[in-house]
Amino acid sequence: MLTEKYKVLKALGYLGNNFPDFIPDVVVVLGSGQGDLAQEFSPFAGLDYAHIPEFAVSTTAGHAGTLFLCRFQGVALAIMSGRVHLYEGCSPNEVVRNLRVLGMWGAKKAVLTNAAGALNPLFSTGSIMLVTDHINMTGENPLAGENLELWGPRFPDMSSAYCPALRNLAFKKALAAGIHLERGVYMGIKGPSLETPAETRAFRRLGADAIGMSTTLEAIASRHMGIRVLGYSCLTNKNLPDCMAETSHEEILAEVRKINRNLVTLLKETLPHIGRD
Ligand code: HPA
Repeated sequence: MLTEKYKVLKALGYLGNNFPDFIPDVVVVLGSGQGDLAQEFSPFAGLDYAHIPEFAVSTTAGHAGTLFLCRFQGVALAIMSGRVHLYEGCSPNEVVRNLRVLGMWGAKKAVLTNAAGALNPLFSTGSIMLVTDHINMTGENPLAGENLELWGPRFPDMSSAYCPALRNLAFKKALAAGIHLERGVYMGIKGPSLETPAETRAFRRLGADAIGMSTTLEAIASRHMGIRVLGYSCLTNKNLPDCMAETSHEEILAEVRKINRNLVTLLKETLPHIGRD
């Protein structure tokens, strides 16, 4: 059986051989219902995850599983349309494998987007939250087990997991585009069940402003590799423990599609600057 390191190197070898003139500056990971946004960046290649040796493949509706390569305003983008989640039964290493491949290919920044539920009562459904920090409530960590020095240190620092300079840039660009951005703490859970009212109350008290089932492990693996991270949470529903509304995956996907227009604008305004920074 191949070790995680060799799986990553195998995928990297395939991409490097097929695209010898391409080195990504930025990797963008698109969340549930956001995969179509990649077309906005005029990709010159779209690779089915299943055709890339050892790439992890998603089984979730709304997560297509295509790696798009783009040159957008002078910046090389590797856009992952689709991600794998712990709730699919994937291991933490599988969850971050594709990101590690793109990090080894050369990406120095990662923009992680997701659909999330708002826990902060002041935040509205339909808005976007810039992630300032996270609480990893998944109970998992992609760095557990033997550490690969090739990727990063045994005990990586997480004091500013979401790069303050990139956050600043993203905030200014949003302001200039007339898009209101919330700022707050993302809590990552394993899922797939949504939260009970009691959990919602507890998580809010722990300091979370939004909650979802992705992103935290990717941010940890990115920081481990020295990749600077920016995170956007699209708030698809609002969870108030005292009047908890029912939420379905279909409703979340429908809401995220409404938010996509603003997310595209933010990405188009911000990515060229992130890439050159
Ligand atoms: N909880 C967890 N994950 C989510 C939610 C939520 O309310 N909304 C979108 N993803």
